[in-house]
Amino acid sequence: MKEKIEKLKESIKSYIVSKPDDIEAFRIKYLSKKGEVSTLFQEFRNVPNELKRQLGQDLNELKNFASNTYEDLKKSFNDNTQNENNIDLSLPGLPIELGTRHPVSLVKGKIIEIFKRIGYTVSEGAEIEDDEHNFGRLNFPENHPARDMQDTFFISPDLNVLLRTHTSSVQAHEMQELKPPIRTISPGRVFRNESISARSHCQFHQIEGLYIDENVSFADLRQTLLFFAREMFGRDTKIRLRPSYFPFTEPSAEMDISCSLCGGKGCKVCKHTGWVEVLGCGMVDPNVLEVAEIDTKKFTGFAFGIGIERTAMLVYGINDIRLLFENDIRFLKQFTSAI
Ligand code: PHE
Repeated sequence: MKEKIEKLKESIKSYIVSKPDDIEAFRIKYLSKKGEVSTLFQEFRNVPNELKRQLGQDLNELKNFASNTYEDLKKSFNDNTQNENNIDLSLPGLPIELGTRHPVSLVKGKIIEIFKRIGYTVSEGAEIEDDEHNFGRLNFPENHPARDMQDTFFISPDLNVLLRTHTSSVQAHEMQELKPPIRTISPGRVFRNESISARSHCQFHQIEGLYIDENVSFADLRQTLLFFAREMFGRDTKIRLRPSYFPFTEPSAEMDISCSLCGGKGCKVCKHTGWVEVLGCGMVDPNVLEVAEIDTKKFTGFAFGIGIERTAMLVYGINDIRLLFENDIRFLKQFTSAI
């Protein structure tokens, strides 16, 4: 009996499994009612009483060994054959979600591309500015009410350091540092202490344009802006310039385009006028050229400031500026391609 137990143990140890059916065969061979282990239990009945104690223990050990081996075989076979049994390799892979460009970046890129084509370079300035470049050099006299036009976030208590209220601060630097001819656009973020609503925000983006050379005229400004409007909003776009006021330009104007949503017929976006305002512009005021030591007898120039959010809202038909700052993925995911 003892030898039979040993032999059976050896045979269990060397059992080879090469396919799932072999595991079931193992169970039948050793562990089923008529299996070899059970047969030994039957034989055990005939063992003389004095040997029963020892052999009973051996037999129980053998039975445990067989059932543990069976569990191990099942487990290791499943682990090794996961791919064959549980994973369907023909299923398509998980999609990789690509991010999308923000509409403000898309429109900014398009505006830069339009002006690069007609020879403009790109320059950038700091968002934290001093009073001199945001106001002083741009012909805003000290304590002049014109400074109230743009509600300012001041950083230092002496009101000297502030968050720029417009990208015109970059043209103040450019004129100070470069000699004409200057032909540059400056995209960037600006800040105004205004309450947030569907139409205005305390932060937004502008693109400043500055062109200084000999014989630059208002007609050049108008033609440049017409080119921009047609490239940006479509070939049939019309523009109109309304007289306006900015301390750093004289004469100054605001430019409207024929409403790109209703084609000029009148809708909610253009408040049923057929026109929407997109930018401020004008001929650079001689005072501004003089503080930059640019010879006003020789040089003239024009400047303009385009609102990027405003342009994006028109291009995409977005009716609330706040959507552009909330980063709601359901909104942003709609902007998948270049314009
Ligand atoms: N800086 C002006 C604004 O933010 C726009 C502007 C730029 C007007 C350049 C004229 C010339 O409102």
